[in-house]
Amino acid sequence: MDDLRQKYIDAIAGAADEAALEDLRVAALGKKGEISLQMRELGRMTPEDRQVMGPKLNALKDEINAALAARKAALGDAALEERLRAEWLDVTLPGRPRPRGTIHPVSQVTEEITAIFADMGFAVAEGPQIESDWFNFDALNIPPEHPARQEHDTFFMSRAAGDDRAPHVLRTHTSPVQIRAMQAQGAPIRVIAPGRVYRCDYDQTHTPMFHQVEGLAIDRDISMANLKWVLEEFCRAFFEVDGVELRFRASHFPFTEPSAEVDIRCSWEGGALKIGEGNDWMEILGSGMVHPKVLAAGGIDPDEWQGFAFGMGIDRLAMLKYGIPDLRAFFDSDLRWLRHYGFSALDMPTLHGGLSR
Ligand code: DAH
Repeated sequence: MDDLRQKYIDAIAGAADEAALEDLRVAALGKKGEISLQMRELGRMTPEDRQVMGPKLNALKDEINAALAARKAALGDAALEERLRAEWLDVTLPGRPRPRGTIHPVSQVTEEITAIFADMGFAVAEGPQIESDWFNFDALNIPPEHPARQEHDTFFMSRAAGDDRAPHVLRTHTSPVQIRAMQAQGAPIRVIAPGRVYRCDYDQTHTPMFHQVEGLAIDRDISMANLKWVLEEFCRAFFEVDGVELRFRASHFPFTEPSAEVDIRCSWEGGALKIGEGNDWMEILGSGMVHPKVLAAGGIDPDEWQGFAFGMGIDRLAMLKYGIPDLRAFFDSDLRWLRHYGFSALDMPTLHGGLSR
């Protein structure tokens, strides 16, 4: 019996896994196991022998059961240890999110502009990209024979043969949204209107589709001084440079009187554009006091109300702020370009959180 004991104790101690332990349990204590068979022999023994052998066999059976349980626990512990070692990770490391897409600079800059003007009380207005020529031109004091119509390189929609009404156009600027917003809301009003516009033009700084943002503020006593403050405030916030300097240059637009174009002070040293320093000026927007005829077209009485408007190119602002040299690449959908110039989808531009971190 000592040999039997030693054989199983050694085998159990050397068992490599739970399956081997189970085989040993069956071999020793299963129905036909070695120890079970011996226990069956007890019935045939003399009472004296049985008294000696019975307790011994029971003790052996208990000892083997205990050894099996101990080895099983040890194997479980070892497996857990091994797993903990293999699956080790540092839970104090910061997360590494891998966003799959980026926000296009046009979307980013539109959000930045919207955040800045929202802070000054401007709501966002919208209008259709396929526009009637009345909204795109006439209502903005650009009558049919006006030279400005030629300057706009307009895309015209086709009309059915025999339909001689004026064709609709792809809007050439966001200014028609001024008219739509005035008609919809009346005065007083304070809106911006970002969106797509279209002109038949294509080179390094022009694409047939591009983006503008229109601004309109109408009240009883709004003046050119308010326009100047709003635009200076906007440029300071947008370019994130304190020393931004603007120059208002007399100009002409059919829909404003008086009109001004706004230039921003900049330098071009070593091919790099810097805003707020240097001796160059870069034109960034058109603006002026809304023409009385435009107010009237929007259903607002020009004897009672007045205000300012402005329009600027969003793509142009993006190129200036983020140093992007070629406008055409904006719309090529080249993934390398998008990854390079794109913005994190999780950083929404806000005035308090930073516009362009
Ligand atoms: N609509 C003009 C353009 O596309 C830009 C513009 C100039 C808009 C002056 C305005 C403005 O609202 O007042 O060139």
